[in-house]
Amino acid sequence: MGALIVFEGGDGCGKTTQVQLLAERLKKNHQILLMREPGGTDVSEAIREILLNPKLSVKPEAELLLFAASRAQLVRERIIPALKMGLFVICDRFVESTTVYQGIARHMGLQAVEAVNKIALGDLVPTVTFLLNVPCQTSRQRIFLRNGADFGLDRMEREDFSFDGSIQNGYLELAKQHPDRMVVVDGTPDPKVVSDTIWEHLKARGLV
Ligand code: TYD
Repeated sequence: MGALIVFEGGDGCGKTTQVQLLAERLKKNHQILLMREPGGTDVSEAIREILLNPKLSVKPEAELLLFAASRAQLVRERIIPALKMGLFVICDRFVESTTVYQGIARHMGLQAVEAVNKIALGDLVPTVTFLLNVPCQTSRQRIFLRNGADFGLDRMEREDFSFDGSIQNGYLELAKQHPDRMVVVDGTPDPKVVSDTIWEHLKARGLV
């Protein structure tokens, strides 16, 4: 069985850069599968179009089920087969995103989210989840530097909760509840330094 390594954090926390840096390092000695959520299969990419389209108004209940539907497909079509083949699967966002964005920020309730997550995941549990922690002020600056004052923000990034601290606090609370599999990493230093910290954690766990 391979390992499922997940990266989580608020918008602009630097996840995508860290996913790329880890993938490059792992690729030298291991087979990897790189995934980003929502997405990763034809069905999941079609659902992603709906979820991130700023022209659509998606009700919170529909949003929760769509994120879960996208994941249910990804897990069965790509992730489980890859893990069975012994691959390292790196996922840019996974189940904790739903807990924090839909459960906490959208007030859908943790029980409802847990039930839906359970259907999407079955028995699958991430091996380790890195939470990249950056102050909201920093994420806001990074997003605006990347996208311009408003131009290009997707449907989720336009939400008030995206940069008001509720996402960051929700993640930190979740990490406290799952110290065994969630690792909080300071996402403010230079990306190379953050990447080294992550690598050391994986070494300490005997994964690399
Ligand atoms: P994406 O463009 O992939 O952004 P990022 O680089 O921040 O990961 O957009 C994904 C958006 O969807 C992001 O704002 C977080 C949100 N999201 C949820 O609300 N729930 C979920 O379960 C997932 C996977 C993502």
